[in-house]
Amino acid sequence: MLVVLLMPSNFEGSIGIFDSGVGGLTVAKAIMKRMPNESIIYLGDTARVPYGTKSPDTVIRYAQTCSKILMERGVKLLVIACNTASAHAIPILQEEYSIPVLGVVNPGAQAAVDVTQTKSIGVIATEGTISSEIYPQAIRSLDPSAQVHTKACPMFVPLAEEGWLEGEVPRQIAQAYLEEYAIHNIDTLVLGCTHYPLLTNTIQEVVGKDVRLVDSAKETARVVHETLNAMDALADSNELGIHEFLVSDDPDKFNRIGEAFLGQRVEPVEWVDV
Ligand code: DGL
Repeated sequence: MLVVLLMPSNFEGSIGIFDSGVGGLTVAKAIMKRMPNESIIYLGDTARVPYGTKSPDTVIRYAQTCSKILMERGVKLLVIACNTASAHAIPILQEEYSIPVLGVVNPGAQAAVDVTQTKSIGVIATEGTISSEIYPQAIRSLDPSAQVHTKACPMFVPLAEEGWLEGEVPRQIAQAYLEEYAIHNIDTLVLGCTHYPLLTNTIQEVVGKDVRLVDSAKETARVVHETLNAMDALADSNELGIHEFLVSDDPDKFNRIGEAFLGQRVEPVEWVDV
């Protein structure tokens, strides 16, 4: 008698994405745009945000919980859509899971190296990401001659979450953080934090139009696409993918703030216990 075991396959699953909160929705948006047929489960760890001010050990522990929740839902690929968590937790998560675990730092570094002409690159990010030195390492591994000038800009996160994106106050804060870049003569600035792309106009105004701003979301979506393609695991349906959102704090607040990051209504949102 022939017994056929129908095993559920990871390759039929969704793309799992997590961030400390709403910011990773900028990455989710780029993935949705590039791969509209893919189903996505996004987890925003809104109860424990921010990660950017926490110690590496704490961030690793948080990243492990988020990954576990998404793995239990059968995701086929995991995207750490948080620079701080990518900086601290990628090697550990890659060791823990057999599915691909991708972060946003290497794609951002690659995009910067691709566009810079002067090889003088600025990187702005959270305190945790900057002190990890992950961006200079990633950029120099791609181009050892690159000069990397890093700066933590922690106030940008609450500004983005408050929707305070343009005007006098964000401009003054951006000037205070970014004026030092004038002396480094950078031609490329990596927005190494998921929240910063929302402040693109203000940041561009302050650093000047000749500096190229690099947002790793688009490049991350490209790497996700290539990885799934290489695994022969792209969704083969012609129907639009299903998008689900999980949060560890108030779903209504996530819904409200998230819309600015995703560019569309964020629903359905389900609460999960982290
Ligand atoms: N998502 C974080 C990052 O990209 C920014 C917000 C936080 O500090 O948690 O580093």
